[in-house]
Parts: sequence; C-alpha cells; structure tokens
Amino acid sequence: MSKARPPGSVRPFVLHSRPLAPLTTWGVGGVAETLLAPRSRDELIDAVRWAQSEGEGFFTLGGGSNVLIGDGPINVPVLLTAGVSDIELRVEGASAFIDCSAGAKLSNVLGIAIKEGWSGLEFAAGIPGTVGGAITGNAGALTGSAASSVVKVRTLEEDGETVERDSADMGWSYRRCGLIEGSGRVVTGASFKLSVSTGERVRAGVKEAIEARRLQPVGCRTAGCVFKNPQGQSAGMLLDKAGCKGLVQGDARVSSVHANFIENAGGCSARDIVRLAAMCRKMVFDMFGVTLDFEIKTLGVEEEMIYAGL
Ligand code: EPU
Repeated sequence: MSKARPPGSVRPFVLHSRPLAPLTTWGVGGVAETLLAPRSRDELIDAVRWAQSEGEGFFTLGGGSNVLIGDGPINVPVLLTAGVSDIELRVEGASAFIDCSAGAKLSNVLGIAIKEGWSGLEFAAGIPGTVGGAITGNAGALTGSAASSVVKVRTLEEDGETVERDSADMGWSYRRCGLIEGSGRVVTGASFKLSVSTGERVRAGVKEAIEARRLQPVGCRTAGCVFKNPQGQSAGMLLDKAGCKGLVQGDARVSSVHANFIENAGGCSARDIVRLAAMCRKMVFDMFGVTLDFEIKTLGVEEEMIYAGL
C-alpha cells in the first residue's frame, strides 16, 4: 500500500478543530484535532487508509449513541462513518438481503424492512446509532442482536485490504464483536438477511420490542445502558437496588425511570458522567460485590477515572 497523500486541499473529508459533542447523543465531548468525515464508500476507504498510514491509531465514531468522549482536546484522529449511509434491498426468493454501508442508521434499515414486510430486524426498534456501531458492539435487546440477523460483514483490515466475512467468523458475544474490538479493523458495511413476512406481522414484532423498552427514559439525552448486564443479572436492577436512581454529579443524573441510564440534564461534562458512573459502580460493588463493566465505548477518558473507587 502506498503512503497516502497528506490531508488538506486534496482531501475534502479531512476536517480540523471540530467539536465532537454535537455528534453524540449525550451531547458531550471535546474538540477533535482531526475529524475524517467521508461522504462515499470510496472516501471511507481512502480515509481509513490515510489514518492507517499515519500509524497513530484512530477512533471510529458512528451515530455517537453509545460513546463517552472526554472533555479535553482529542488528539487521536476521529473517523466519522455517518456520512456513508447507502442501503439497498435485494430479494432472492423467500429471503431478502439488505446491504448497507457502515454509516447507515439502524432505524432507516428497519424502516425499509417494515415498509417492504420483511422480518428479522424487529429487535432493532428503538436502538439508535449506525450499522457499523451496531456490529462493533453487537447491539441488541431482549429479542435479538446484530449477531442474529447479520450474514456478511465487510471490513477494512489493518493492512488496508477490504474483506467480506460470514457472520459466523465475527466472534460475537454479548455486546461484543471479538473480530472488530481492539483490532484496528473498521466495519465498512454489512448485509442483513430477512425472511418473508407481512407488514402487519413485522409491525407487531416492532411493537413488542418497543414495549420491552417502556421502562426506559425517552426525550432526554442519554447513551443507552451505561453498564453491561453481569451474567444472569440486570445491571439496571442492581443499580436501582443500590439506590442510584436520581443521583447527580454536576448536570449528569441517573435516570429515575431506569437506573442503567445516565441523562445529561443540561450542560453536563464527560467528567460529570464519569464521576457519576464511578459512584454507581462503587455502590453496586459495596452492596452486592458485583463489578459492573462499561457497555459504552470511551474516547479521551482516563481509565483511572472510570475505575476510581474500586
Ligand atoms: N429493573 C429495575 N430497576 C431499573 C431497571 C431495571 O428493577 O432501574 C429491572 C426491570 O424491572 C427488569 C430487569 O431489571 O425486571 C431488567 O430490566 P430491563 O427489562 O429494562 O432490561 P435490561 O437488562 O436493563 C436490556 C438491554 C437494553 C434493552 C433492554 C430491552 C443491556 C445492558 N441492556 O436492558 O439495551 O433495551 O434489555 O430489550 O443489555 C443498551 O444496550 O443500551 C440497552 C438499553
């Protein structure tokens, strides 16, 4: 692979000094020194190759719905995939395939499935974010997860090559995709397999998935569940029983609806959220001896702060 040209005039997707807070659902995060914001598949590949050739690592940001970005300057290049969002439906007999780019919104992919009456993505109802993010974190709910409906995942490897893999080779586990996490690979696209159904039945499945979320906060700035569920237990229930609901740190507040959600109640900082999360983890540990792990991804947040107090 040849070394990419430097950023600037010839690369319109390389932006400098861009605030990241507006790109996250929490509305929190510092200024990125370099933001790579490709608008096409070719630009996405070009952007990843450029970032890889720089050799300093980079952070991939999708819909910003499951990420905590620190308040300080972000010196690691940030690759924003949200601008590359093609979605195509292919029908093959009693199955349909939806091929999409990493930046496609999961809600838009589901929208097409509902409109055309294809089943398999109902679990995604109410899950924010992009396809790339959903795969990286094996996003899901009680009724299913990315792993259960994805058939192919396309990536850019660390050596700059594009590869398409079967879902079975992705190393899925609860809220994890082993093949992507910490690998230097970037998800560029995926194909979902759907089965024939009717609009009515798909809508009923969507309703069921939304019903499962009725005890979640709506209309406020959150990043979904903050902690993973420990094996066989509910983080939300543990946090609730430990007395976390309603706790505040600055403008960060534990939801009074579901204790595994932290709301930005105004102008909260990443520091507020980290302090509050650390306080909650400690309360759960002190009461139940259970250590909660972050479900959300972090960028520019010091590890010591996250694990403070335990
Ligand atoms: N509960 C409480 N208090 C609370 C929250 C929950 O007692 O404050 C109890 C509930 O009453 C229920 C149990 O805990 O008996 C489980 O709660 P819930 O049904 O809300 O499910 P969850 O395990 O907390 C998971 C996913 C959600 C997903 C829902 C619904 C994780 C960490 N969370 O939540 O996903 O929306 O199931 O399918 O896996 C996310 O990943 O960001 C997320 C929100």
